[in-house]
Parts: sequence; C-alpha cells; structure tokens
Amino acid sequence: MLILGIESSCDETSVAVVQDGRRVLASVVASQVDLHARYGGVVPELAARAHIECMTPVMTEACRAAGVTVADADAIAVVNTPGLIGSLLIGVTAAKTLAWLHGKPLVAVNHIQAHPYAVCLDSDIEPWPCVSLVVSGGHTTLYHHAGPLQMQRIGRTVDDAAGEAFDKVAAILDLPYPGGPSVDRLARRGNPRAIAFKRSAVGPEQLDFSFSGIKTAVLYEVCGHDLSRTAAEMADDRKADVAASFQEAVVDMLVANTLRAAESRAVDTIILGGGVSANGRLREKMAEAARRRGMACHVPPLKYCTDNAAMVAGLAHVMMRAGLVADLAFEAKA
Ligand code: KG4
Ligand code: ZN
Repeated sequence: MLILGIESSCDETSVAVVQDGRRVLASVVASQVDLHARYGGVVPELAARAHIECMTPVMTEACRAAGVTVADADAIAVVNTPGLIGSLLIGVTAAKTLAWLHGKPLVAVNHIQAHPYAVCLDSDIEPWPCVSLVVSGGHTTLYHHAGPLQMQRIGRTVDDAAGEAFDKVAAILDLPYPGGPSVDRLARRGNPRAIAFKRSAVGPEQLDFSFSGIKTAVLYEVCGHDLSRTAAEMADDRKADVAASFQEAVVDMLVANTLRAAESRAVDTIILGGGVSANGRLREKMAEAARRRGMACHVPPLKYCTDNAAMVAGLAHVMMRAGLVADLAFEAKA
C-alpha cells in the first residue's frame, strides 16, 4: 500500500511517500528556520503563509523523488491535530483537495501519535508493547503502548515542554535559533558536572516532568538574581559549562522517568520520538540506561526525529488497515 503523507502542523512543510508503512520512498521537508530566526520563535501567521507557498513545490519534489504521481497513492494522509491552526489548515486543505480530485481515501493523523511510530521507518522493528517518550517543542509525554495506535498517557510535563526549555535556555545564553541544536552543540565542549541543577520528578508515580524551575535556575546563573548581567558578559567556557550542565539535568530527568515508566508497566522496550530525541546526550544516556537494565531502546534516525511527513504516512498505513478512514468533513484542531 502506497501512502502520500502531509505534515504542516508547525513550521515545517513536509510531504512523504511511504510503502507499506515502513519503506520511505521519499521524504521532503522544507524548513522555515530562516523565516522565523529573526523573531526568535515561530510566528504563526508567517508560518501559515509559508506553508501555502511551499506545499505544491514540496509535493511535486516528493512525488518526483519517489517516482510516483498522486494518482498512484492508495490513500492521502495528513496531520490534523495538534499544532498551529493556520498551519494545520494548509495541509488539511491540500489533503482534502487531492483526495477529492483523485477519489482517494483520507487518513487524519495525530501528530503526537506519529512521532513514536518514526522508529518503524526504514526498519523492521516491532517495538510493541513498549513505553514511548515523546519529547518535542510542545510536548513531553510518556505513553504505555499496546500497539502503535493503542497508547495510554502515563506521564506528562506539568509546565514547559523539554524542547521549549532548550529553546528558552538557548535564548538566555544568546545562542542561535533554533535553540535545541545550539545547546546540544555547545554542551559538547562543556562540563556537565560544573553546575548541579536540581533534578525533579512530579506526580503520584513520579512520571510527570517539570522544567520551569531549571529554566529559572539557568536565568539566575547567567544573569544574576537581580538580572543585571547578560550572556554577552560570560566567558565562552562558562557558557559551555552552563549548557552542558542544563542539558545533563534535563536528560537525567527524561531518562529517570522513562525507566520508571517501563519498570512500572513491566515492558522491556523504550522508544523515543520528537525533536528533542535528536539530542546526542539523550540518545546516549537513554541507550546506556536501558542496556544496563536489559531493556531495548529504539530511537528514530535524526531525520525522522524532528517534524516530517514520513512518520505520518507510516502511521496512516496502520490506521488504514484498522479501517480508520476520515471523511471530507474532518477538521483541523489546534
Ligand atoms: O518535534 P519537533 O520538530 O516539533 C514539534 O512538534 O514541536 O520538535 C522541535 C523541538 C524544538 O524545541 C527544538 O529546539 C528541539 O525539538 N530540538 C532539540 C534538538 N533538535 C531539535 N532539542 C535538543 N537537542 C537537539 N539536538
Ligand atoms: Zn513534532
């Protein structure tokens, strides 16, 4: 089964063609990083306008790279939630138009469900049952999965998402946008034990996360308690130490809760998904912690960690087989 997937929930326009839920024939991602960099964050109205401009060329390029036409697809899949409403509407409108024009079934995919499925792309891994950690700019959530679609939320952040914390700390340290990769890069030169930022776990089972405290601790470390200093006055080595120590604390919290979740649900497989799962230290420490406990840990290749349509077309194959086809009246939901 050949599925054409569309993802436009935030600031990446992406179209992918995936065979039988696994084999990625093409995955094209047009990033809007340059567009939003000068504002230090995604500007929703600009993102939506850029999706309109990019959608047709990205789709044309994906079909060309896969050697198919839209008419060859067995279904059209699109992310309809969650995300920025203006951005989602562009993808949903494109998908509905193509499905109507070519008489194809439509699949409405949840972006958060698609992230952990990325471990299955270009691979024959069957990770279920497992615990997944979805760590992105908007989410930090633990799920207990019986299958790719059968997932129960067992932990979440009570304030900021991990990616949001990376982005805010990058801004405090005056690092280039997007923040997560900048912190990841700088942290490699720093000492992760230079500053002992507090690790916390919250909730009845200690499966929930809180990252607002550490963000404030970094702010005071860099700018002083009276906020009289700036990152520009800080020596480069000290900046690298702050980045490394912050990253180490966030990674420790993510790893600790994820292991606790896997142990409490008696599963021996952990999977990661979402932009922050591209973080080098997280990938390293999660794999090592799982190995020590005799668990398997699967992380998507870097290109499928951040937002992409391949994970959407992949999960849509599972949904099609489960009969989960949408009708033309389905809506985008922020
Ligand atoms: O999944 P994603 O591409 O978009 C959302 O669904 O939010 O995740 C984007 C988030 C951003 O906060 C970005 O800073 C973070 O993922 N990110 C990283 C890294 N690469 C992307 N965070 C830490 N280390 C990275 N290498
Ligand atoms: Zn995402």
